[in-house]
Amino acid sequence: MKGKYTIGQLQKRAADGEKLVMVTAYDYPLACIAERAGVDIILVGDSLGNVVLGYDTTIPVTMEDMLHHTKAVSRAAQKTLIVADLPYGAYEINAEEASRNAMRLIQEGGAQAVKLEGSQWPALVKEMTRRGIPVMAHLGLLPQTASLWQGYHTHGRDEATAWALVEAAQAMEEAGAFAVLLECVAAEAAKLISEKIDIPTIGIGSGPDCDGQVLVSYDLLGMGCAYVPKFVKQYADIGNIIEQGFRAYADEVRQGIFPDATHSVAMDEDEAKRLY
Ligand code: KIV
Repeated sequence: MKGKYTIGQLQKRAADGEKLVMVTAYDYPLACIAERAGVDIILVGDSLGNVVLGYDTTIPVTMEDMLHHTKAVSRAAQKTLIVADLPYGAYEINAEEASRNAMRLIQEGGAQAVKLEGSQWPALVKEMTRRGIPVMAHLGLLPQTASLWQGYHTHGRDEATAWALVEAAQAMEEAGAFAVLLECVAAEAAKLISEKIDIPTIGIGSGPDCDGQVLVSYDLLGMGCAYVPKFVKQYADIGNIIEQGFRAYADEVRQGIFPDATHSVAMDEDEAKRLY
């Protein structure tokens, strides 16, 4: 494929029944590897607050943090679609500020789209879409405000809340969102939402019937020290591999094994003799 993967291509693939694959990445090397692995979308999630910056929540993550990490990812991902999170405080004040922040993530950061959390933003999504900003909506568990309001739990577990989520997703579709991310939504409700809207749904902890799936890369790779939710499947154990590498290096340094002659640059023999 030549050039960047577009939102239109993504939507067509989902409409043709192909599952979309999204992972988070926050830096250059991980984004290079994600692109090499052929994922469809890289999310520069504000989960970077928990995963790489060590915060308890995503609330402290700033626009400057998001820009810094989005720039690193976009230098790596030449073809993969990049979605960047609008962090807490970057879109709630008014449409002008939200649009300006979204455009910074696209123009300065190199993302192709932004994501924002909550069902209360159809008017904002409509305005941002009118201004040419592709928006992914995020419904269900909303990490930016969960610690303040709803807590951390599965959404749409009864008929009424499942239909409320359907209506919220439909409102986002009508407003112009190009996809809806569903976090911790009961599998049956996520299936219903996926059937009731034409734009792709991307699930995390929301069962198998979404049009695509997303996981936090550090969770799926077994690489972090942040809390790992129950719905995560771990596909690799990179954390232990890294730890083993550090331990082996430390042992060799402490025993004087590293660096040996093959990992040192020697002087010319005659020059060396002159030194002593
Ligand atoms: O910030 C993030 O990584 C997310 C995921 C939970 C999908 O929004």
